[in-house]
Amino acid sequence: MFYPFEMERYLETLLGERDPLLHEIEEQALKETIPIVTPMVGNFLNLLVFTSKAQTILEVGTAIGYSTIWLARAAKETGGHVTTIDMNKDRLARARENIECAGLRDQVTTLEGDARKLLRTLDAAYDLVFIDAAKGEYLEYLSLIYPLIAPGGLLVVDNVLFRGWVVPGSTFAPKYDRMVGGLRQFLEDLSLNPDFSTSVLPFGDGVSVSRRIGP
Ligand SMILES: C[S@@+](CC[C@H](N)C(=O)[O-])C[C@H]1O[C@@H](n2cnc3c(N)ncnc32)[C@H](O)[C@@H]1O
Repeated sequence: MFYPFEMERYLETLLGERDPLLHEIEEQALKETIPIVTPMVGNFLNLLVFTSKAQTILEVGTAIGYSTIWLARAAKETGGHVTTIDMNKDRLARARENIECAGLRDQVTTLEGDARKLLRTLDAAYDLVFIDAAKGEYLEYLSLIYPLIAPGGLLVVDNVLFRGWVVPGSTFAPKYDRMVGGLRQFLEDLSLNPDFSTSVLPFGDGVSVSRRIGP
């Protein structure tokens, strides 16, 4: 977290209590150190689906279904559908259970496998794509996902500032050099792409939001 922990906690209180299911998934993720989006980012994803009225939503990185539920709850209201990809069989099985518990089975399709392979097999035009899988693979996802975003569609990416280390001049352990370098390149490629208009929001772990403005 690169801004005060107290601020994150305070902003979270403004969201109000999550329902028992989301709360339980947050607890499980914390206990088992499964990385999931912060509640504020989850709420933001929900808001984006509502406001954009996205019908076709693609998520890369399901884990146990926390962000999927935030996306799919909005999709249920707008008549949309979420397709979500994860390569971890056990996590995906738990995600399916959580999605079922949330009463969102009809709103979600889960795909098991490596996104770098599966993305090549998709040919739909997505109104909103959310990337939250392996940070070292973001550049690869980007080239595969660009053609899948519908004109006017949104690309939302989590962890783009990764603990603030993506900001030049930050200090971190050398083992993160490659990943941080990859994320810097990712943000540069995304921001310089004339077909996309991008804002980077410094909350959660850094979230980028891009709208496809080009052909
Ligand atoms: C940060 S977690 C996703 C958290 C989830 N979006 C949430 O907030 O509830 C990242 C997930 O991406 C998955 N993953 C990593 N690399 C992947 C790949 N190449 N293809 C598919 N899934 C991948 C991992 O198995 C992991 O469950």
